[in-house]
Amino acid sequence: MMSASAPREIKDMAASARILESINRKRAGTLLDDEETSGIVADFVAARIPDYQMSAWLATVACRGLSTGELAALTRAYALGGGHLDLSQVDGAVVDKHSTGGVGDTTTLIVVPVVAACGVPVAKMTGRALGFAGGTLDKLESIKGLRSYLPTGEIVPMIRSVGMVITGQSSDLTPGDGATYALRDVTGTVESIPLIAASIISKKVAVRADGLVLDVKTGAGALIPEQDRAVRLTETMLDLARAFGLSGRAVLSDMSQPLGSAVGNAMEIRQALAVLRGERPPGLWDLCATISRLMLQSVDPLLTEEQAAARVNRVIDDGSAYEMFVRWAVAQGADAADLEAERFPTASQRLVVKAPESGWITRIDPRAVGSATLLLGAGRLTHDAPLDYGAGVRMNHRVGDRVDKGDILAELHYDLGDADAARSLVASAFQLGDQKVTPPPAVHQIFEPQEL
Ligand code: URA
Repeated sequence: MMSASAPREIKDMAASARILESINRKRAGTLLDDEETSGIVADFVAARIPDYQMSAWLATVACRGLSTGELAALTRAYALGGGHLDLSQVDGAVVDKHSTGGVGDTTTLIVVPVVAACGVPVAKMTGRALGFAGGTLDKLESIKGLRSYLPTGEIVPMIRSVGMVITGQSSDLTPGDGATYALRDVTGTVESIPLIAASIISKKVAVRADGLVLDVKTGAGALIPEQDRAVRLTETMLDLARAFGLSGRAVLSDMSQPLGSAVGNAMEIRQALAVLRGERPPGLWDLCATISRLMLQSVDPLLTEEQAAARVNRVIDDGSAYEMFVRWAVAQGADAADLEAERFPTASQRLVVKAPESGWITRIDPRAVGSATLLLGAGRLTHDAPLDYGAGVRMNHRVGDRVDKGDILAELHYDLGDADAARSLVASAFQLGDQKVTPPPAVHQIFEPQEL
């Protein structure tokens, strides 16, 4: 048996000594050199250093920050430590997008088929739910038969034949990010501007699309809630992307309330399909329209805002964006008849949250709604927990709406989850007042590209 004071899990004494020295140097304010950073990432991916030392290194970086040079070195270490996509085999310019994540944010499932239907190929690697925020990969897995992870070798052929791909990040792309992200998630080191920037931009460097749009959230349900820090994150990512020769645009979008009216995996697939068939819910549609037009402009800078917006509206109105979604989902294994009939998981139980008084909705806390979906079984409280794909919360109202006492504010869908606790959380998310409030805009700011 190990004594209480013995070091645990030291796998490689030399690697452990190197990271310990790096932690001490960084804590003392010394700049990390490029080789040191790439060595640490490589050692961690190869399991030569234990989780607790890497956690301490990440925590030191999160507290101390990174210089521009250090940030580029970490991004390079993540990006170049694995494989990459060769998008040169796709005809025409390919575009990519990335969101920092939120609640009821089904944007990817709408903008990717919209942009692809406009004739611009889209390569989208996506991830799972994180904490209270949903994940596109989990939403996709509520579609029976759909292969959510394509082997790297199938990604480019899929883009060439269909015009789009949405797939989980394969483990051979940016393995350093994959390994450290899992650790950051459980060590309180996700919410660091340089660590988020390196994580996101390394993935964009490995995919290397011709155009890139970043969707950075701000507000209570965002990774970085404060608007000034979210702006700093956006600028940091755009500068970093440019240092790697990627021309990016960005939107600073609102996450001070759930974005869509559906929060939950299959429920968000249904909402995405409704939008692709022509519904334009406020908030969600405003953001999707902006991101889609920026994606089109990112690969065709001569396209005006009006022309790009008209193309986006056209592919919704003529049904081609919806057809694109179906063609892609079937190509990745879904059944066309299931999609048409919306045969997705549905929870068996319902519980409603009613307005306790009449008034104006002044606030809907997205964290409380997101946390309620976890309690209902739609998200994971532990890493390997199974999901209830049909569970979730339907939001009947948005900030700025007038409601009367007894009106249904939200409806909980569940099977086995802790519905009473979830109902209390959703009820606490709503604030009512006697003054009309102006709803927040879906898009707070747009960042246009600068010269490379
Ligand atoms: N999304 C990512 O891919 N990485 C982060 O660090 C945060 C959000």
